[in-house]
Amino acid sequence: MSKTPWKPDGWRAKPRVQMPDYADGSALAGVEAALKTYPPLVFAGEARRLEDDLAQVCKGEAFLLQGGDCAEAFADFEADKIRDTLRVLLQMAVALTFGSGLPVVKVGRLAGQFAKPRSAAMETIGGVELPSYRGDIVNDIRFEAEGREPDPRRQLQAYAQAAATLNLLRAFTQGGYAALTRVHQWTLGFIERSPQNARYQDMAGRITEALDFMRACGVSDLSTPEITRTTLYTSHEALLLGFEEAMTRIDSTSGRWYDTSAHLLWIGDRTRQIDGAHVEFCRGIANPLGLKAGPTLAADDLLRLCDALNPENRPGRLTLISRMGHDKVEAHLPPLVRAIRREGRNVVWTCDPMHGNTIKAGSGYKTRPFDRILAEVRSFFAVHKAEGTHAGGIHLEMTGQDVTECTGGARAISDADLRDRYHTYCDPRLNAEQSLELAFLMAEGLKEERRALKAAS
Ligand code: PEP
Ligand code: CO
Repeated sequence: MSKTPWKPDGWRAKPRVQMPDYADGSALAGVEAALKTYPPLVFAGEARRLEDDLAQVCKGEAFLLQGGDCAEAFADFEADKIRDTLRVLLQMAVALTFGSGLPVVKVGRLAGQFAKPRSAAMETIGGVELPSYRGDIVNDIRFEAEGREPDPRRQLQAYAQAAATLNLLRAFTQGGYAALTRVHQWTLGFIERSPQNARYQDMAGRITEALDFMRACGVSDLSTPEITRTTLYTSHEALLLGFEEAMTRIDSTSGRWYDTSAHLLWIGDRTRQIDGAHVEFCRGIANPLGLKAGPTLAADDLLRLCDALNPENRPGRLTLISRMGHDKVEAHLPPLVRAIRREGRNVVWTCDPMHGNTIKAGSGYKTRPFDRILAEVRSFFAVHKAEGTHAGGIHLEMTGQDVTECTGGARAISDADLRDRYHTYCDPRLNAEQSLELAFLMAEGLKEERRALKAAS
């Protein structure tokens, strides 16, 4: 690791993977120069507040919920869709708060999640070979030669869409839409329609009682406006580094560099090379960072990455996002958890049960069976329980829409159903019902664990 002072463009001298080659260098330079003059999307003080919130998760005193699209899309940019994803995230947060008895830190894969790493650089259909789709910030999903050419102007559109999305999210979360009583009303509606109605009724009834009790004690929307507001932070993968560099500014309060494109940035499982461009860029920004940890990550490489990304060992700075695959958690996660604990590293551990559980259905669609997603979450919790560490959160690809992309769940979506409403631009997402169902199942588990802990103490 180099000891020279960090610079926002220092990554340019490092080996890079998963980034497009732009044919028109001067158009790219023009776009990056323009982005540098654009207003920040988020503010350094907000990113610091998220680090404080994540420090609570690190100490075992809060829980992290991170979720949203695999890839946001230019053609899928509607207020209702943003609202619906937010709504499900808020509902999940209430269930998880109730289950864990802990505050839930909410982070969206929203307002900037436009760049995708791909397993193959090229895609072949019917004998025609074209560059793979790399997210709307890079090229077009349609299989046409012109659209698949990386176009730097797309970065300006991504910026504009992120700004408008964030504006709407800020309005919804601060303007009363997110009031606790209202979120719970939506959940009651969901339960009424759910085939698992009986199973969730009990927990919902107890949340209703808790809210009634609070109201009787004088805690209402009017007396306590805080319960009508909430904070949703934003996050995306720091993949397209030219864009991220252009959004990186010195914060006048702290004198540190912040990437103002989102509150939290993460490094993907394919771009976490210790001497690579992505680690070099991320180590210098003061935003909280995520790091995906897949089954090929060795414990000593993880420790080296911790050294590079969090040399001061600040709690809340680094979130490790385990994404092993339901059948690999037991073998691959414990060595990482033990190394981190042994070396006294302060990290948040969270579980992405999506990316290790993608399969190709008989119908040809990429899908993720709900049972495997749930199994990975359960194994993740079991490992942390056995190791005496805090299973700090969950990272999901989900949407507020009624899509058919992941199989299973209470409605038992089958392979044959996938074609009905398969809308994702990249990986299959949990739909609104499946997301809430997962939150309820997790809340049940969290609640049981708390009961067992209390009984033992
Ligand atoms: C993602 O989160 O969309 C992703 C590509 O994940 P990973 O880097 O873990 O494969
Ligand atoms: Co994905």
